[in-house]
Amino acid sequence: MSALSELYKEIANCHQCELARQRTKVVPGEGAEDAAIAFIGEAPGWHEDQQGRPFVGPAGQFLDELLASIGLRRQQVYICNVLKCRPPGNRDPLPTEIKTCQQWLDRQLQLLHPKIIVTLGRYSMARFFPGETISKIHGRARKDGGLVYFAMYHPAAALHQQKLRETIQADMLKIPTLLAEVRGVPETKAADKPQQLSLL
Ligand code: URA
Repeated sequence: MSALSELYKEIANCHQCELARQRTKVVPGEGAEDAAIAFIGEAPGWHEDQQGRPFVGPAGQFLDELLASIGLRRQQVYICNVLKCRPPGNRDPLPTEIKTCQQWLDRQLQLLHPKIIVTLGRYSMARFFPGETISKIHGRARKDGGLVYFAMYHPAAALHQQKLRETIQADMLKIPTLLAEVRGVPETKAADKPQQLSLL
């Protein structure tokens, strides 16, 4: 069993905050264990809580579309959330919940060591871009310690707002170039042929 699967077992046994009592299933995350890109959302919603998988509801369908726009499938990347359990009624995560759950995300990222961390929404952004606002930094990358951090709006926020939808679509199209850069591939090649993007 991989170290990540072992970690999932630990996460499933976590009862360190109230959310554990109300969850149907814990949602640790899923995707390629050698993924170059990790997408980090906010918290499981109703669909995710039912299935134990991240981004499987309407926001997840849009995320799948966004991935497809750069030639990727969800199995080729890693997808998880700041919180591993659903806040009741999809309310915003509480600071104490974020703090308690942080250990799991930290350990996931240590095991995965992705090249690019894409934050989806402001809670995930706050973890990696403290003090920033999403309207200011979305679509912009920060390089730090060999890692690239890239902030995007949350796909759910873009579902009913056409303008945000276009913004998030445009931001997603910047990722192949970032990936090419972290891999040292000539930029134009990757940007011209996103459908041939390889994550191996
Ligand atoms: N929204 C999130 O932030 N994460 C999910 O997994 C689903 C919806």
